[in-house]
Amino acid sequence: MHILGIDIGGSGIKGAPVDTLTGTMLTERFRIPTPQPSRPLAVARVVAEIAHHFNWQGPMGCTFPAVVKNGVVETAANVDQGWVGTDGQMLIQQETSCPTLLVNDADAAGIAEMQYGAGKGHTGVVIMITLGTGIGSAIFLNGILLPNTELGHLEVRGKDAESRASDRARQEKDMPWEKWAEKVDEYLRYLEFLFSPDLFIIGGGVSKKHEKFLPLIHTRAQIVPAQLLNDAGIVGAALAARELV
Ligand code: BGC
Repeated sequence: MHILGIDIGGSGIKGAPVDTLTGTMLTERFRIPTPQPSRPLAVARVVAEIAHHFNWQGPMGCTFPAVVKNGVVETAANVDQGWVGTDGQMLIQQETSCPTLLVNDADAAGIAEMQYGAGKGHTGVVIMITLGTGIGSAIFLNGILLPNTELGHLEVRGKDAESRASDRARQEKDMPWEKWAEKVDEYLRYLEFLFSPDLFIIGGGVSKKHEKFLPLIHTRAQIVPAQLLNDAGIVGAALAARELV
């Protein structure tokens, strides 16, 4: 089955048609910078441009970096506040005329990793954490997702965890790898205290440089880098949208 996967991020919106039977993209991704401010209609129009680029008329899955329930966006940590309360799924569907599923970005990445990446074949409790502009989370029990967990906003030392341990925090505060790894380690150990996972999967762009920080993490659970890297959002969005077909 071929489904268009689209990954809406803070700086770019990218998409490609995905073969959901193999979890691979059928073409090169097409990327357009995220409009600033990232208001709902402006973003939906960019998504429509991407669908148009692929001359797409079929089903489509779209990630979004916020809580999404039945298509409605409920939070907006790193996007325009105008999204809160917007039925993003319906808006994108209207702009593209394609049946659309909107899904949290970390949930989508987790779905892709569980099916075709680092989580393949893993049962028990698996936690995927994406370290990027924010911190995203996805929890799986025996392969089944508990959606919209938002563990990036847990409080650690009185602060929003993502303001200390996201990759943006590392870059903005120009933290050496060792210092940042300590913060990530503290955060992951807190998650471990809460959920006793069997496996952590660490995603987000920085997971490409996992050898710089994963060896400094001391969780009891096994910890591995994500395998789909940049493609996880696009592939996961398409996999999540299989339910439309
Ligand atoms: C948002 C999450 C999102 C994560 C990664 C957080 O700030 O609240 O919904 O998954 O960033 O983009």
